[in-house]
Amino acid sequence: MTSEQSSGTAILLQLTTRPEPYPPHVRSRLEVDAKDIVARYPHPRSALLPLLHLVQAEEGYVTGTGIDFCAEQVGLTAAEVTAVATFYSMYRRTPTGDYHVGVCTNALCAVLGGDAIYAALQQHLGIGHGETTPDGAITLEHVECNAACDYAPVMMVNWEFFDNQTPDSAREITDALRAGHRVRPTRGAPLCTFRETARILAGFPDERPGANDGAPGPATLAGLDAAAAEHDPTGEGA
Ligand code: FES
Repeated sequence: MTSEQSSGTAILLQLTTRPEPYPPHVRSRLEVDAKDIVARYPHPRSALLPLLHLVQAEEGYVTGTGIDFCAEQVGLTAAEVTAVATFYSMYRRTPTGDYHVGVCTNALCAVLGGDAIYAALQQHLGIGHGETTPDGAITLEHVECNAACDYAPVMMVNWEFFDNQTPDSAREITDALRAGHRVRPTRGAPLCTFRETARILAGFPDERPGANDGAPGPATLAGLDAAAAEHDPTGEGA
């Protein structure tokens, strides 16, 4: 007697078939982009990370089809590409909303309010880590330190910074995004969609105004200013 017969419930082995290839017109477009990316590196396999962003830009996450495509372009096995894609958290394995909202819950942000922001958004949006709102607008994740601790607690939307957040401000941002309103990050370029962001991360030009501008803000420079004042209390220089 099988365990299925004994329990009376179906057993799902979750075996999958080979992924469907891209439609020919998509594949030929992606091949042109992939060739461009691979040509930037001395060895094709070095292009794997941007190629994974390229396929993520196509479908909003890294699918089996994307894995096979990347493997073919760089001469690796699908297992090797999968190992890389599942190691880095920026590659998503489930469909992603237009806006990926990452709340930093690493130590500094957490104690300054990151944990409270994340809990507030979970409750407000009705979704948990890695899940997407039913309207397809927001995917929520808690993320590790984004090297912006001087503006803690921070929240990232499609990897753009929203500094010094509170539960209320975070709720307002997600409400505005879901309503289709234009939302500006605290610094950096205007927001684009998750798929557009993935294409920029694949190394294609970032043509958003201000994308390559910017300078360190006062919080980032505070330590440097304090050291300079200690070294030269008059502020007049040597
Ligand atoms: S701990 Fe949050 S940005 Fe560093």
